[in-house]
Amino acid sequence: MVIFPVLAKINAYDGMRRGMRLGEALEVARLLEESGCSAIEVSSGTVAEGLSIMRGPELPVEALLAANFRVMKMPAAVKQLLAGLLPVLAPSSPKPYRNYNVEAARAIRKQVSIPVIAVGGIHTLTDVGSAIGSGAADFVSMSRPFIIEPDILRKLQEGRQQGSRCIMCNYCAIMIETDPLRCWHGKLPVNLFPERRGVADIRENQLSSQP
Ligand SMILES: Cc1cc2nc3c(=O)[nH]c(=O)nc-3n(C[C@H](O)[C@H](O)[C@H](O)COP(=O)(O)O)c2cc1C
Ligand code: SF4
Repeated sequence: MVIFPVLAKINAYDGMRRGMRLGEALEVARLLEESGCSAIEVSSGTVAEGLSIMRGPELPVEALLAANFRVMKMPAAVKQLLAGLLPVLAPSSPKPYRNYNVEAARAIRKQVSIPVIAVGGIHTLTDVGSAIGSGAADFVSMSRPFIIEPDILRKLQEGRQQGSRCIMCNYCAIMIETDPLRCWHGKLPVNLFPERRGVADIRENQLSSQP
């Protein structure tokens, strides 16, 4: 018989109106443990709600214009309008940008005896230390830090860096709608997408016309 671990990544809350909240997550965690789950990773938010899983200081406007499937279907004039309106009208992502599921992980850890993994904006050794050291989680996991630096663990282990170089621009999360996964570090190379030049040019022009 092959024995292998089964881990479940769950939402602590989904950020939707009348959606799930922590109380329901506690019950889900209890049921997962009861059914033999090996560990629970605690996240939050949904793709539908969007912003709570794309936390960061700026809305990824340029990436949204170039790669979002809804935006891509729009006529150039509408895109141009959107390029101006998005930064003004779109809500900014919720705060904090870092360690935002740690307290939910702590609540879930109190409910179960299987390991609990915290994820979400845990990007530095200090973040790791406080999530695990404070007893909120048994483990942490990271996503964007591995996208920008696949060797991040080695760098942290060897003391070459204290944290990730990720700037939380979230371009990687948007651009996977059209392109292979990679780190864009908050900027699209204009020449890379001749068919989408129009959109990139709009953004470039806007940026260069800013005082
Ligand atoms: C490009 C990309 C793709 C992702 N795809 C998924 C996914 O398919 N399922 C999922 O549960 N989370 C997905 N996530 C969310 C991450 O697993 C993680 O929960 C989130 O990015 C916060 O962690 P971080 O701050 O370490 O990036 C994705 C994130 C990124 C950046
Ligand atoms: S594109 Fe790079 S810098 Fe931006 S969020 Fe993704 S990994 Fe971080």
